[in-house]
Order: sequence, then structure tokens, then C-alpha cells
Amino acid sequence: MKDIKELFKKAIEVSDNAYAPYSNFHVGAAIYCSDGSIETGVNVENRSYGLTICAERSAITRAVSKGKKEFTAIAVYCRDSDYPVPPCGACRQVISEFCTGDTEIYFAGKDKNFQNYSLKEIYPLDSLHDLVKENKTD
Ligand code: THU
Repeated sequence: MKDIKELFKKAIEVSDNAYAPYSNFHVGAAIYCSDGSIETGVNVENRSYGLTICAERSAITRAVSKGKKEFTAIAVYCRDSDYPVPPCGACRQVISEFCTGDTEIYFAGKDKNFQNYSLKEIYPLDSLHDLVKENKTD
């Protein structure tokens, strides 16, 4: 049983660890893994700008490093935004590698009012879907 409030709490808490001196956009992400655990990540910027990694991909790489490769819900929180910040295009592609179309995606700005969409709603024409590997043990 997923505790979505707990997922929101973790995304909010971890956003304080974001490294965002260039954009001043501090983002935290929390993902529910299929084993019931939650992994978190933050955006990590770089002075080259292009090497910045978003909070969502940061959380996913952390989870995969621990052997977790299936996720059932993702929450994204930006403490500096007046509007809810959904995953960027690059993150939607990466999320789609490890989630189904029904995976719940939540996102909020500073008011903590989380909006809820499914992955297929925010990523309807899944790029390269024919190449997806169903066996995620490799
Ligand atoms: N960012 C995220 O971490 N996640 C998103 O969903 C949108 C954007 C970060 C990347 C960059 O560090 C900053 O927010 C501004 O784009």
C-alpha cells in the first residue's frame, strides 16, 4: 500500500539538498519502488549548464544503483516555483524506461498542492516504445 503523503514529504524534504546555484530552482524528487521503498534525488547543476541533472533522473539513477528498476509513483517538488513543475522532456523519456503508462506522476510548486497525472497522460507518444526491454534484470 503506497503512502503518497510520505512520498510528497520526502520530495519536499530532499529539495533542500538541491545544488542549484545557477537557476535557483531547488527541486526534489521521490520515487516509490516496486518493493515499497522510496528513493530520492535532487537536481545537481554544473557551471557548464548542459551537464545539469534533474531531480527525477538523479532519483532514478540512485534507485537503479541499488538494484531497483520498477517504480510505481513519482513526486516532484520545486520549492522556488509559483506553479507546479512537471518532469522535463528528457526526464519523461527516462521515467518511461522504468514505469508503465499508469505510473502516477505528482508535481507541485512552493504551495505544495500536488497535481496528479499518469505517465501516459504526460508522455502520450512514448518514444522508441518498440525497443523497450520487458526484462529489467540486465
Ligand atoms: N529541473 C528538475 O530538476 N526537474 C524538473 O522536472 C524540471 C527542471 C531542474 C533542472 C535545473 O537544475 C533547474 O530545475 C532549472 O531548469
